[in-house]
Amino acid sequence: MTTERETRLGTVQETLLIPLYGRAVESGKEEPALSDPRAQEIVAAIDYDFARFDNLPSLVGTVLRTALFDLWVSDFLTEHPVSTVVEIGAGLNTRYERVDNGRARWFDLDLPDVIDLRRSFFTDTPRRTTIAASVTDDAWATSVASKAEGPCFFAAEAVLPFLQERDVRHAVDLLAEHFPGSLLALDMAGPGITGAQDEHDALSKVEARMQWACADPAEITGWRPGTRLLTSCTLTDLPARLHERLPAAYREMLSGLAQQRLVQVDEYRIGLFRLA
Ligand SMILES: C[S@@+](CC[C@H](N)C(=O)[O-])C[C@H]1O[C@@H](n2cnc3c(N)ncnc32)[C@H](O)[C@@H]1O
Repeated sequence: MTTERETRLGTVQETLLIPLYGRAVESGKEEPALSDPRAQEIVAAIDYDFARFDNLPSLVGTVLRTALFDLWVSDFLTEHPVSTVVEIGAGLNTRYERVDNGRARWFDLDLPDVIDLRRSFFTDTPRRTTIAASVTDDAWATSVASKAEGPCFFAAEAVLPFLQERDVRHAVDLLAEHFPGSLLALDMAGPGITGAQDEHDALSKVEARMQWACADPAEITGWRPGTRLLTSCTLTDLPARLHERLPAAYREMLSGLAQQRLVQVDEYRIGLFRLA
C-alpha cells in the first residue's frame, strides 16, 4: 500500500475525491451496489478530510452513475472486444479494474496534477496509458487517434458540467472530428441544479462549481448534425437490467425518490451519444 499521500489538487480536480469516496464507502456496505476495493485502498492512502462527505445522499448518486457508465462500457466491450476506451477526466476512477475484458486499449486522461496523483496508484501497461492534458487540448486527440484500436468509447463521467459551454462544445467537436462514429457517455445538469450549487450536499463542501447547464440532450445533438442520442436517463429511471440487480433497499429508495419529482434528480441526466 502507498504511504499516506497529501493531496494538492486544483479546485475542479478536488471533485474527483467525491466519487472516489462514494465507491469506497459503498464497497464497505453489507450489500453494495458495486464493489471497488481499489477505491477503499486509495482513500486510506490519501491525506484528505473525506469525513466532510459522510452520509451525503450524493455519494449514492455517484455510485449509481458509475454503475450506469460501467454497464455501457461493458456492453461496448462485449460488442467490440478489440476496441478503445478513453476515460475523460478520469480522476481516480477504477473502471478498468471493474470492466476490462483483457483485450481493449484504455486511456485515462486528466489534468496534470491529477495524473501525477493517479500515477502513484496506477501503472501504465501496453494496454493502459495515462495522459496529462485538458480534454480541450487538440494534441491528446491526435496522439490517441494514432494509437487507438477498433471503435472508441469516450466516458466523460462528472466532468463536462465543470467546463464552460464553449469548452464542452469544443471537446465534442474535437472528439467527433478525430473519432467519427465513436460513442460518448456524459452527464448533464440542468439550470435548476447549476443555479443551486451552494446548497448542493457535496459541492457545497468544495470550491468547484459547475459551469455548464444543459436542460436537454437535444442541445448537444443540435451542435453537430448527425450526432445522435442513443439513450438517456435519470438516476431514478435507470435501465431495467441495472435497476433489477441493485440491492432491494436501493430499488425502494429510487422508487420513492422518483415520486418526489426533485429538481436535483429530474434535471440530472446521463446520456449516450454517437458522434458524427
Ligand atoms: C467529479 S471528478 C470525476 C472523476 C471521474 N470521472 C470519476 O467519476 O471518478 C471531475 C474530474 O474532471 C477532471 N477535469 C476537469 N476539467 C478537466 C479538463 N478540462 N480536462 C480533463 N479533465 C478535467 C477533474 O480533474 C476531475 O478529475
